[in-house]
Amino acid sequence: MHRRTLLHCLLLLCLLVPIAACSREPGDESTLDRVLARGILRVGTEPEFKPFESKNEHGEFVGFDIDLVRELAGDLEVELEIVEMAFPALIPSIRQARIDLAVSGMTATAERAKSVSFTDSYFETGLCLLVGADAGIESADGFGDRQLAVKQGTTGQINARRLFPNARITVMRTEGACVNEVVTGRADAFLYDQLSVLGASRAHPKTTRAILTPLTKEPYAMATPHGDAKFVTRLNEFLTAIRKDGRYQTMRDKYLKDLPDGSR
Ligand code: ARG
Repeated sequence: MHRRTLLHCLLLLCLLVPIAACSREPGDESTLDRVLARGILRVGTEPEFKPFESKNEHGEFVGFDIDLVRELAGDLEVELEIVEMAFPALIPSIRQARIDLAVSGMTATAERAKSVSFTDSYFETGLCLLVGADAGIESADGFGDRQLAVKQGTTGQINARRLFPNARITVMRTEGACVNEVVTGRADAFLYDQLSVLGASRAHPKTTRAILTPLTKEPYAMATPHGDAKFVTRLNEFLTAIRKDGRYQTMRDKYLKDLPDGSR
């Protein structure tokens, strides 16, 4: 064989082997079976997203999503192990089977659904703007080439260019850093999920304002290994069950009272 061709074959192999290793075969064991056998459900989250996940003053995980997976682990009769990580690490960690699922206010998008499978959605909201109090911005229109902060790896970053074609975009790693850009006036606005925008505007009433008209649709769902129908079916049964028996409503009352228009 020609050396070039051999090299090409080798290259192709290097590309194909990892793909094959990640995609599921019909006979593969479901993550559900592994979780039940292990007796532990490993859930990944980035706890910087109130009221869905954060850490309280004792360092404990709290929030709607945390209660959700606590109930889930209870129903599966397994222990819950929460694995904290940066938001952009969640999907790769599912693919590497470091976690069984991610619950992180994650929007189910078609692009992400190419690498993970989503459950039914358990909450719907939209992206909104946190603007500087003196930025003179009343709506998303006419943003022009102003400075927009977005958080890395989130739908805010993914949609920024399409929604604000001429904006100058600053990508920051944490929600706190994005909010701070607006508070200090380095950015005119921060594009993020509605309840985070609302929370930030309440925490910084002098320097920021929330424009709560949703600019996108963000259905939150749990993310699981790609193509594991058995696991997703079991998780959807759980979501249906808690809507029926009132546990879902209890969690809504606890964390999601008085939603602005556009979240439900
Ligand atoms: N819904 C947005 C997304 O899916 C932001 C989620 C951020 N969640 C978090 N726990 N930090 O990209």
